[in-house]
Amino acid sequence: MTLDAGMTEFAKLWAEIAPIGRADSGGYLRFALTEPELTLRDWFRAQASARDMLVTEDGNGNLFAWRGEPWAPGTVLTGSHFDSVPHGGGYDGPLGIVSAFLAADRLEKSRRIGIAAFVEEEGGRFGVPCLGSRLLTGFIKPDQAAALRDRDGISFEEALGARPAGPEPRIEQIAALVELHIEQGRALETPVGVASAIWPHGRWRMDFTGVGDHAGTTRMTDRRDPMLTFAFTVLAANKEARLSGAHATMGRVQVEPNATNAIPSLVRGWLDARAADTATLDRVVDEIVRKSTERAGRDGTALAVTAESVTGEVAFHEELARRISSLLGDAPILPTGAGHDAGVMSAHVPTAMLFVRNPTGVSHSPAEHASDADCEAGIEALAKVLEDLT
Ligand code: GLV
Ligand code: MN
Ligand code: MN
Ligand code: MN
Repeated sequence: MTLDAGMTEFAKLWAEIAPIGRADSGGYLRFALTEPELTLRDWFRAQASARDMLVTEDGNGNLFAWRGEPWAPGTVLTGSHFDSVPHGGGYDGPLGIVSAFLAADRLEKSRRIGIAAFVEEEGGRFGVPCLGSRLLTGFIKPDQAAALRDRDGISFEEALGARPAGPEPRIEQIAALVELHIEQGRALETPVGVASAIWPHGRWRMDFTGVGDHAGTTRMTDRRDPMLTFAFTVLAANKEARLSGAHATMGRVQVEPNATNAIPSLVRGWLDARAADTATLDRVVDEIVRKSTERAGRDGTALAVTAESVTGEVAFHEELARRISSLLGDAPILPTGAGHDAGVMSAHVPTAMLFVRNPTGVSHSPAEHASDADCEAGIEALAKVLEDLT
């Protein structure tokens, strides 16, 4: 895209980052600490320096730009993440960072704000979502995170390399955190909304083991095929979620040896499950595991389940949400099934989220979209909120 003088500030900044990490699918491959995400971090530094904002890192991969002293009392933090899921949309994450810089432009320079780019929000590279905010809040310790490995065996510690650690984060000094994010379902019908809660959710790795053998010579009655148990589990997860008003997805799978003419010896699938309350989530996951284990017994296979990350229910600061909603002319207040760094931070800092309408209702897909006009409305809203809170 060529830049022309008639473009809005939003359209200009958006055009700068739009090609970074875009795949032929139209979606993005912006995994944490890989080349496209590092390019976006350089872009972040350039944006900060153009605004005379000091940039710091926290040694765990989180990046910050400050107007005022880093971590000064009363600072309001905003921002989001650059990383994407495989072939995800371009708005999930970066919209919150671009909006933060543009909202900063509309505030007096005396307002103390920080802009955050949290690392590995999607868990797309190292498997744990919101890794940066979990590290920042102490929910995960650096040595636990250091050992996480990506699909090529590179550890988080190796990927981080020798990142300079700036001043010690003082999250207790932060007055509030406001993350702007594209809405990711069909729930928002006005340009801007305010988050009330995040559903409890988690990821469970399910290892189905059986006996690898020849596809042509092994009698059907002699097989111990883990793919059968896996297939049953995919259907059971869907059924249990539907019966309970929950969400369950198996969107990632690995097969060994992954040959057309071999019965697999191992199928490893990941269950993503979410529900409006913890009791329902626990019940749905327990029931999926119980039924699959029973089925494994009948298939002559074995099932081992590992909880990789579980996030409890998040209720955002109610008073803050109401105050922001009324500041924005009674913007709707709505819950979401998507996880966010703001959810992790909310246990430590009064936290709110602004959602920008997504007319496709689709996210984690190239079809994710927000109109320029709605993004502008989001920036305007964020600037108003930051002004009100600083
Ligand atoms: C992250 O976007 C998630 O909700 O999985
Ligand atoms: Mn996401
Ligand atoms: Mn996101
Ligand atoms: Mn997310």
